Amino acid sequence: MSICYLNGEYLPLDQARISPLDRGFLFGDGIYEVIPSYGGKLVGFGPHIDRMQEGMALIEIGFDWDHAQWKDLCQQLMAKNGNGNLGIYLHVSRGADTKRYHAYPEGVEPTLFAFTFEIAQPPVADKSKAKGYKVSSTEDLRWRRCHIKSTALLGNVMHFQKGYAEGNNETILYNANNELTEASACNAFIVKNGVVITPPLDTQILPGITRLMLLDILRKYTDIKVEERVVTMKEVAAADEVWITSSSKEVAPVISVDGKAVGTGQIGDVWLKAQKAFEAHRYDY
Ligand code: PDD
Repeated sequence: MSICYLNGEYLPLDQARISPLDRGFLFGDGIYEVIPSYGGKLVGFGPHIDRMQEGMALIEIGFDWDHAQWKDLCQQLMAKNGNGNLGIYLHVSRGADTKRYHAYPEGVEPTLFAFTFEIAQPPVADKSKAKGYKVSSTEDLRWRRCHIKSTALLGNVMHFQKGYAEGNNETILYNANNELTEASACNAFIVKNGVVITPPLDTQILPGITRLMLLDILRKYTDIKVEERVVTMKEVAAADEVWITSSSKEVAPVISVDGKAVGTGQIGDVWLKAQKAFEAHRYDY
C-alpha cells in the first residue's frame, strides 16, 4: 500500500480519513496539482507550485507553504514510495466545517492531502513506440473559470467519459464560436505547414505546465515556429498534426478526431522534433 500524506502525517493510503463535512468532498472546494517524477526527479516542480499557489489565492484559501516545504513533501513521498516513476497528487481543500454552508468559513484549517501513483516510463520521441491518440470532440460545457485548477472536475469528467464511451482516449473541446479550447484533461495544439499553434491563455483553458514548458523549449531550442492564437475547429479538421499535452503524456500525437484521420493518420514529423526537444529539457523546469 502506498504511503500518503494527510494533514501533517504520513500513513498508508487505505488508512487516510477525511471528514464528510470537508468542503473538498461537499463542494469540490479545493485546488490540486499533479507533478510527474521519474526515478526521484521532478518535472516542472517550480511552475506546478506557482500554479497551485495562484489557484489557492484566486479562491482565497489561506495556505502559505513555500516552495521548500512543498519540495520536502514531494521528496518524502517519492522516497517513501520507492522513487520510481510516480505522479504526485497534491490537494488543498478549504477544510472541514461544522456545517454545510456555501460561504467561505472563517477559522477552518485547510485540508492537505497528497499521494503518489505509478506512471509509465517517460514518453520517448520514437514513432514506433509512441501511442497515437484517438479523440472525440464536443462543445466545452464547463464553467468560465477553467484557468483555476479546481478539484471540482465533474465537467471535465463528463467530457472525458464521452470520448471514453466512444472508444477514444480523450475528448477535445470547442466553445460556442467553434474555437478549440483544450481537452478534458490536456491542452491542445495543431500543426499546420510546420507551424505549431495553440489557443492563448485565458479563462477557457488551464495554463498547463507541459504547455508552458513545450512553448518555451520550442522557442529556445528549435527552429519550429510557434503561435498562441485562436484556433477554429475548421483548422483542427484541416491540420497536418494535432497534439494533446499533459504532465504524464508530455506531447502526445493525436491520429484521429471523431474517427476522421488527422493529416495522413500517422504520427507526424513535427511531433517527433518537439518531443525530442522536450525530452532533452524536461528536467530544466
Ligand atoms: N490534467 N487541461 C486540463 C483541463 C487538465 O486537467 C490538465 C492536466 C491539463 C494539462 O496540464 P499540465 O500540463 O499542467 O499537466 C490541461 C491533470 C494531469 C489531471 O487532472 O490529472
